[in-house]
Amino acid sequence: MPTALITGANRGLGLEFVQQYAADGWSVIALCRDPAQATDLNAEAAKSGGRVSVDALDVLDFAAVDAAAARHAGRAVDVLINNAGIIGPVRDELAKQSFGTMDYTAWERVLRTNTMAPFKVTEAFFPNLMQGAQKKVAVISSTVGSNVEMQAPVVAYSSSKAGVTKTFTTLAAVLRDKGVTVMVFCPGHVKTDMGGEGAGVERYDSIAGMRKLIAGWTLAESGQFKRFNGETVAF
Ligand SMILES: NC(=O)c1ccc[n+]([C@@H]2O[C@H](COP(=O)([O-])OP(=O)(O)OC[C@H]3O[C@@H](n4cnc5c(N)ncnc54)[C@H](OP(=O)(O)O)[C@@H]3O)[C@@H](O)[C@H]2O)c1
Repeated sequence: MPTALITGANRGLGLEFVQQYAADGWSVIALCRDPAQATDLNAEAAKSGGRVSVDALDVLDFAAVDAAAARHAGRAVDVLINNAGIIGPVRDELAKQSFGTMDYTAWERVLRTNTMAPFKVTEAFFPNLMQGAQKKVAVISSTVGSNVEMQAPVVAYSSSKAGVTKTFTTLAAVLRDKGVTVMVFCPGHVKTDMGGEGAGVERYDSIAGMRKLIAGWTLAESGQFKRFNGETVAF
């Protein structure tokens, strides 16, 4: 069976990816910041018969990204999913990503996590991807990063998602002749810690939709930006 590698795999959308791929018989390399605290993910690994392995990775630490790739050297990865992400200061701290009161340290952290780290993780695990049969890499972006569809007052977050969408669209052109398919997703507004309880999309539906799209995504479509339900996101 194929292998998926997922960042931010301990909760939210990342955990749902792990659960659905594992239920489908895939092997999963599940990366998260703190495996010792990843109770739900560890439970998933425990019942997987060895198909789900949990390993530590804080995507902000690029040396740690290289070290994680070295630990998994020689292992084929069919689908690499850059899921880990942060929204930055929100609610009563929203001013920290607003004009006039910007917290630049917070903005840098959001950019490094959401825009630069997916590129770094893809670079580091590229040999694994080339060994996989499917050669597919995804990033979970957001419609909030689209200039056409949405404007939201979260400057750090929206700029980071616009940045990663452009980065992966560019990457698609760079990697096309290596046979690598690049996929950019908006998962919808999903009920997770980030999306909140009031979100309109269930985790199961978002991930089932994206998994179906991943399975059918062709090299000719590399670099496209799609919502979990298959709609094209205007960017
Ligand atoms: N939910 C939505 O409505 C929505 C909409 C559009 C896009 N997205 C995107 O979808 C992705 C997943 O979001 P979610 O809703 O599942 O969010 P979430 O519930 O807040 O989970 C975020 C995940 O990312 C991990 N993470 C954050 N920083 C990390 C780092 N430096 N290193 C490793 N892991 C890190 C978290 O790990 P810890 O537990 O260690 O913090 C957690 O596993 C994100 O990229 C988000 O921007 C979500």
